[in-house]
Amino acid sequence: MLENVAEMQLNSQNPSPKKEKFMKLNSKLIHAGYDSDADQEGSITVPIYKTTAYQFNNTEHAASLFGLKEFGNIYSRLGNPTVGALEARLTDLEEGAMCVALSSGTSAVMYSLINIMSQGDNFVTANQLYGGTYTMFDNILPEYGIDSKKVDITDLKAVEDAIDDKTRAIYCETITNPGLVVADVTALSEIAHSKGIPLIVDATFTTPAIQKSFEFGADIVVYSLTKWMSGHGRVIAGAVIEKGGFDWGNGNFPLYDKPDTSYGGMRWGHDLGDLSNVAYSLRLRTVPLRNLGANMSPETAFEVMSGLETLGLRMDRHCENAIKAAEYLSEHELVEWIRYPGLKDDPAYELSEKYLKGTGGTMVVFGIKGGKDAGQKFIDNLKMFRHVANVGDTRSLAIHPASTTHSQLDDEQLVAAGAPPELVRLSIGIEDIEDIIEDLSQALESTR
Ligand SMILES: Cc1ncc(COP(=O)(O)O)c(C=O)c1O
Repeated sequence: MLENVAEMQLNSQNPSPKKEKFMKLNSKLIHAGYDSDADQEGSITVPIYKTTAYQFNNTEHAASLFGLKEFGNIYSRLGNPTVGALEARLTDLEEGAMCVALSSGTSAVMYSLINIMSQGDNFVTANQLYGGTYTMFDNILPEYGIDSKKVDITDLKAVEDAIDDKTRAIYCETITNPGLVVADVTALSEIAHSKGIPLIVDATFTTPAIQKSFEFGADIVVYSLTKWMSGHGRVIAGAVIEKGGFDWGNGNFPLYDKPDTSYGGMRWGHDLGDLSNVAYSLRLRTVPLRNLGANMSPETAFEVMSGLETLGLRMDRHCENAIKAAEYLSEHELVEWIRYPGLKDDPAYELSEKYLKGTGGTMVVFGIKGGKDAGQKFIDNLKMFRHVANVGDTRSLAIHPASTTHSQLDDEQLVAAGAPPELVRLSIGIEDIEDIIEDLSQALESTR
């Protein structure tokens, strides 16, 4: 019975395989996951199914849906056709096996971990992480008995040494926020796999346009779709995507070995037959999503899909503008130091060549001469850059992390998190580069 349900989930995430087979990234961004030929009205954009529940044909149909004897729509927390189209598109873009869309990047981070660990377990992660993720790992998860072991992710020996028999995953960001450390995904995945655990990466800062994380060895990709993926600063959204093929029944995951009393005694790592390929995603939808409820709305899925259509174009332009802005700042006398992985003397340059398709990404961070005061003056005098707690918008954005996104950290933690007090973070937009440089120039001058 469960096999039927899972098979239908898989099919619903791959509605037009014949069309998508030959497509490359920019075509998939527009076409994958939805077949307008199959829509009764011929709508070429995905219809928004704005409904909470779905009519049962009769009591027998209802009973068989509830008894998991057949697959179908029941209730939009568990699945919605508009959200399903986005899940199919993301699966195809990453060339993964299955995706679960969620209400935010934050819930995606949380669910990606609690889907494989419980009280007494731990995971090894980077000491440089997005501030909200850092807080979740440091303050929230430990309350539920799940510990994170934070190490310098570039120190591969430290990563390996931190793993013990209760470690269920290595978790990192493909480019850290805001330290811009580029993760050596292949090396980290080799360490993880040698211990029988997965590598989970938050690929928010790379997107499939500049890194296909599965090709480098990651097993699970997590996104805040709020950022570059949707791209226009309009929605909060997240997703977890599974590569497929990881052996969740290898004995390292008690949650996949013991019978699940919330789901008919299912042993997720052992009872799925051919579908063990996507055991992680099936459990994520059926256990955390169904029972904790951070589902994505169909309106949000529609917005994300609209934004995704131009991801390739936008990322090219973001990266082109970012290197020019970084080169400009690196020569400026009021700039104390600069970090941009695309600059030849940047510590992440070599890794960026391998992992960022030769780009340096879209983020630039720098330390301004005059420290914190000058940083605040710089931000207050920007005219076109928006001063917001966000990244990955079409607009250029600037922020001073120490007084905003990372304000919960003390000075020592700020330095360890890659966000020293003088750091200014820029998310370079897709405006005209001359205007971006003009704005940076006049705001820097204002700090003299
Ligand atoms: C790398 C990274 N991951 C996750 C998140 C959280 O995403 P959301 O704001 O969609 O919950 C953020 C937010 O800035 C982020 O930068």
